[in-house]
Amino acid sequence: MTDSRNHDYWNHNVAHHARIVRAMPPHCRSALDVGCGDGLLAQKLAARATWVVALDASPEMAVQARRRTAGLDVEVVEADFLAAVRDGVLPRHSFSFVTSVAALHHMDPEPALQAMASLLEPGSRLAVAGLAMSRSALDWLIAAAQLPVVHGIRLAHGGKSGPDGMPVSFDAIPSWAQSKQTALEALPGARWHRTLQLRYLIEWTAPGRAPIGLRQAPAARTAHTAGEPPAMH
Ligand SMILES: C[S@@+](CC[C@H](N)C(=O)[O-])C[C@H]1O[C@@H](n2cnc3c(N)ncnc32)[C@H](O)[C@@H]1O
Repeated sequence: MTDSRNHDYWNHNVAHHARIVRAMPPHCRSALDVGCGDGLLAQKLAARATWVVALDASPEMAVQARRRTAGLDVEVVEADFLAAVRDGVLPRHSFSFVTSVAALHHMDPEPALQAMASLLEPGSRLAVAGLAMSRSALDWLIAAAQLPVVHGIRLAHGGKSGPDGMPVSFDAIPSWAQSKQTALEALPGARWHRTLQLRYLIEWTAPGRAPIGLRQAPAARTAHTAGEPPAMH
């Protein structure tokens, strides 16, 4: 039997892990991965955070995530994300970093982004990678232009693969424009962009507690004051 903890694989979601890990704050106390799947990203977050919560609604994924992260400071929670926030399973303002990859389109996206934001400590960071679909002529042009790069990277990784039993859903994938609009409405000041690997990335820094305009940005957020795009490292 393969040791799932060491079983690495590549796909268009995994392609975003390095960028997400780089977005973590230095000295990250607590990190949350929403819709963690088999826990591959949580395993990577655990190398940089004191404590990681990996949440997934699928019992099968929770089992795989527990297996993969056994022995690490990772708590795997099997729950629907919005219910977990509503019921206080995930305490508000308690995470230094919140991320989610390819899971937002499984949920009602605007409340889900707002719920993720509500879990962040003031001044801490959110990085969400998600799926969107081409619906306009410009979308298709961009997709066509990106195709050689997407294909080349996939080939360089020997093709894409993933864990067995991963729940997928293609019913509610937004257009690129809809996903951007949702992100900017849910998280004013967020940075949204398309990545080269068929995803968008939302990056946002939670504001401090003081009223906007009256608060001095903390040292860790020198480049970001309220209303400006968040600074991600
Ligand atoms: C396409 S998979 C992506 C998994 C993983 N983040 C990755 O990048 O490989 C989407 C994941 O979101 C989980 N999910 C779907 N709806 C959810 C919900 N309401 N709350 C928590 N997790 C959910 C699914 O069980 C699944 O593991």
